[in-house]
Amino acid sequence: MKLWGGVFTRKTEKLADEFNSSLCFDCRLYKHDILGSIAHCKMLGSQKIISEKESKLIIDGLEQILKDIENSKLKIEGAEDIHSFVEQELIKRIGETGKKLHTARSRNDQVATDIRMYLKDSIDNTVTKLKNLCAVMLEHAQNHADTIMAGYTHMQKAQPITLGHYFNAYVCMFLRDIERLKDCKKRIDGLPLGSGALAGTTYPIDRELTAKLLGFAEISPNSLDAVSDRDFLVEYISACALIGLHMSKIAEEWIYWACDEFSYITLDEGYSTGSSIMPQKKNPDMLELIRGKSAKIIGNLTSAAALLKAQPLSYNKDLQEDKPIIFDTEDNINICIDVLCGVIKTVKFNTDKMYSSALGGYSSATDIADYLAKKGVPFRDAHNLTGRIVLYCIKNNLKLEDLKLNDFKKFNPIFEQDVLDAVKLENVVNNRKSFGGTAPDQVRKTIEILEKKLKEL
Ligand code: ARG
Repeated sequence: MKLWGGVFTRKTEKLADEFNSSLCFDCRLYKHDILGSIAHCKMLGSQKIISEKESKLIIDGLEQILKDIENSKLKIEGAEDIHSFVEQELIKRIGETGKKLHTARSRNDQVATDIRMYLKDSIDNTVTKLKNLCAVMLEHAQNHADTIMAGYTHMQKAQPITLGHYFNAYVCMFLRDIERLKDCKKRIDGLPLGSGALAGTTYPIDRELTAKLLGFAEISPNSLDAVSDRDFLVEYISACALIGLHMSKIAEEWIYWACDEFSYITLDEGYSTGSSIMPQKKNPDMLELIRGKSAKIIGNLTSAAALLKAQPLSYNKDLQEDKPIIFDTEDNINICIDVLCGVIKTVKFNTDKMYSSALGGYSSATDIADYLAKKGVPFRDAHNLTGRIVLYCIKNNLKLEDLKLNDFKKFNPIFEQDVLDAVKLENVVNNRKSFGGTAPDQVRKTIEILEKKLKEL
């Protein structure tokens, strides 16, 4: 049964019906669609647009339908979309009164309401997952506030850092992601229902009541905008694209870290895969898929923007295509967060390898330049002289830590015994006490700040 057809003189083509149908994907909105209808019907009853008795009958019918879907007693099939399905099922069950449900609304304001309700819940769910990820990372940060590793710029060893510092960096990113999702939710929180097809309605509806019943913070103030606004689609996917991008960065790093050449980490076998031909292989497929799926979300962002860019006001059927983009983004982001959480929880850090790697690569060179500068040598000269010391080490296959005081003095007599301390990795790290720096004490302070923020979010 169709919700329309009175004006038609012949049947639509089967192909056209198939093309037009969205039930195979918008069935996912069943709960929000039914809850939206229940609130709408309560409002119709309280405004005497339909009788209290009719309202009650419809609500009971809708509640039963919801229950039956959730208990798998009712299969969602045989309709154009989820809105048609619920209405036709209601009429099947309660008869003529069911036909009154759609009074004072259109599928245009209905679907706009459903998708906003759905996405508000979905964002809460993703935020919970992100908070969990942050908590797992902060635990590693705490346990490894003193663990020294090489820090990189341009993928070249730059200065030693602590592993705790590294984790705090990612927590900063994911906290920003949580803020972005929550901020986006504010603009999803306006109720479109009551806007009708595009121009409002002639019935004496009470939109405040519907908004209150459905937990919306605001009511859309313009019906044309309300039925067509999908800005939040771009905002939501863009927030998710950034989450994906952050996850992809760590995935990329850890793919390197897990390889034999780095050996900074050993991935748990529970989160590794084998090769069908090479028996020795343990592959980081989880991380590669996170990197791969984040590309999909970036693609969805482009799809969303392209979908919206040339649509005249107000509702157009193009908007039906918003749902596969949203659901795909939601599924990908949620599974990636869960899997990354599992990988991070179970990973083993090869801290000796991290330490020995930080020892090489002359990563305490900046500290020699700083040492000289603090003794009055202009920093630019100190930089140049230190460069020559590094060159000497390279030629003689030495680490900076291998140099004796005499070696240093050959370059400048200003060097004293304490230069040997200045190049020690522990001191190089401990001395970076500036706010937000890598010194273990500072890392612990940052953990406190981030934990507080996480609790407040
Ligand atoms: N399935 C449609 C969608 O997702 C519902 C709205 C249909 N509105 C209409 N005027 N045909 O957008």
